[in-house]
Amino acid sequence: MTLLDGKKTSATLKEEITQEVLQLTQNGNRKPHLAALIVGDNPASKTYVASKDRACGQVGFHSTIIALEESISEQDLIREIHRLNDQKDIDGFIVQLPLPPHIDEQKVLLEIDPDKDVDGFHPMNFGKMALDLPSFLPATPYGILELLKRYNIQTEGKNTVVIGRSHIVGRPMSILMSRKSNPGNATVTLTHRHTKNLKEITQKADLIIAAIGSPGFLTADMVKEGAVIIDVGINRVIDKSAKRGYVLKGDVDFETVKEKASFITPVPGGVGPMTVTMLLKNTLLAYKNHRQKAADSL
Ligand code: GUN
Repeated sequence: MTLLDGKKTSATLKEEITQEVLQLTQNGNRKPHLAALIVGDNPASKTYVASKDRACGQVGFHSTIIALEESISEQDLIREIHRLNDQKDIDGFIVQLPLPPHIDEQKVLLEIDPDKDVDGFHPMNFGKMALDLPSFLPATPYGILELLKRYNIQTEGKNTVVIGRSHIVGRPMSILMSRKSNPGNATVTLTHRHTKNLKEITQKADLIIAAIGSPGFLTADMVKEGAVIIDVGINRVIDKSAKRGYVLKGDVDFETVKEKASFITPVPGGVGPMTVTMLLKNTLLAYKNHRQKAADSL
């Protein structure tokens, strides 16, 4: 069994980004700039945004966090988004999800300038992704592709089962794995809560991507010998003996499944660190696109 080390791979990628930023700034250019909008006090969201901010600092990006009250109206949030769309020195920004229940997520995401949508959540980018056109790819699926690529895992013609159909991970992952590309060219089954006989389906899988948010959901009896296992879950499980009062558990029952897997991502240290790093990659791409646009308009 080989551990797919997201921490190490992400450090390599960050080093590559740092070198590129250094070149740019040494040539007199400004730093790339990522902004994050966060609404309310969701502890997991606060942790994610803080880690995005920290990662920006590590690679030499400028970073801005805009923290908004839980009670903000949809209209005022949209106004903030328009302000970021118009701000020339911001290359990309994200709206941290989930948003409070009184705000329509899809309506809000539609307001983001697709050229600054480094999360790849705008329907324009999502549609381009589905059509094999250049676009910002959602960071978590993009990170999984990068892990598969850097560990030279072949996916062509492989039975790939995605568990969970969220807009952020499962759905885009299923599209990306079926694209005409490498990684890709897989035979994809997208499963969800209404799937019948899930175990029969996962037992035939060469590659399983678990993204449901249920700790230890995928157990050894559901997995074929030699399968590649990607665990997207980052579940906080209460543990009074832990320093923070909880431990992080994936969607995969790691201890038993690792005995059957050929490759497996750990939690933490697998997909998680890759997600933040791919957001940086998207921001660098947005920065380059903006520069190219400015040069073209001269
Ligand atoms: N909430 C959980 N994952 C993500 C993500 O990748 N981006 C944003 N904006 N919100 C999230």
